[in-house]
Amino acid sequence: TRVAVLISGSGTNLQALMEQVKKPSSSAEIVVVISNRPGVMGLKRASMAGIQTRVVDHKLYGSRAEFDGTIDKVLEEFGVELVCLAGFMRILTGPFVRKWSGEKQNLLKHDMLNIHPSLLPSFKGVNAQKQALQAGVRVTGCTVHFVAEEVDAGAIVVQEAVPILVTDTEDSLSERIREAEHRAFPAALELVGSGAVKLRDDGRIVWNQSV
Ligand code: GRF
Repeated sequence: TRVAVLISGSGTNLQALMEQVKKPSSSAEIVVVISNRPGVMGLKRASMAGIQTRVVDHKLYGSRAEFDGTIDKVLEEFGVELVCLAGFMRILTGPFVRKWSGEKQNLLKHDMLNIHPSLLPSFKGVNAQKQALQAGVRVTGCTVHFVAEEVDAGAIVVQEAVPILVTDTEDSLSERIREAEHRAFPAALELVGSGAVKLRDDGRIVWNQSV
């Protein structure tokens, strides 16, 4: 499976995905890394791994549609089948999501996954780690899900729970969640990349028992 990873920053999730696809058992190949911000550490990580990179700077576009249109062209250029949003801090437009996340396109089925630092549906949106701390929950975690038009609401593929310690700050909790992310995202990549998990047209997850 030909994978694109979209980033906006440090790229620690990207790093975990790159290590996963290097395993001989992996069914995925990362063919391009796209960042909406120039000069971020994630781009250096990709280059050091010999993966092609593209910067599509959202500040240079007059509209979300034009920005998404450029991302779309890069994904087509590389024949991408699976898009992984790894710390990607942009909301994607409906037409883009409908094309790249699950909708059948002349038999070429695309998928798009995102990682979110909470146990969805709890704590959607930004600062999910801070929301969990402020809510006083004792367990939070991370979620890898298919991207749907509604933000942080797509079908869930993998979750990992993370305890909140009484000594936790937003930083210490975020670090512990990120460690879980680095296990959950590679696991989800393999499940979807190998076809073990599919997204049905009705938006439900299907586990392919025969794999
Ligand atoms: C992580 O905290 C992740 O939860 C969120 O983006 C942040 C940055 O991730 N999705 P990365 O280090 O750039 O992969």
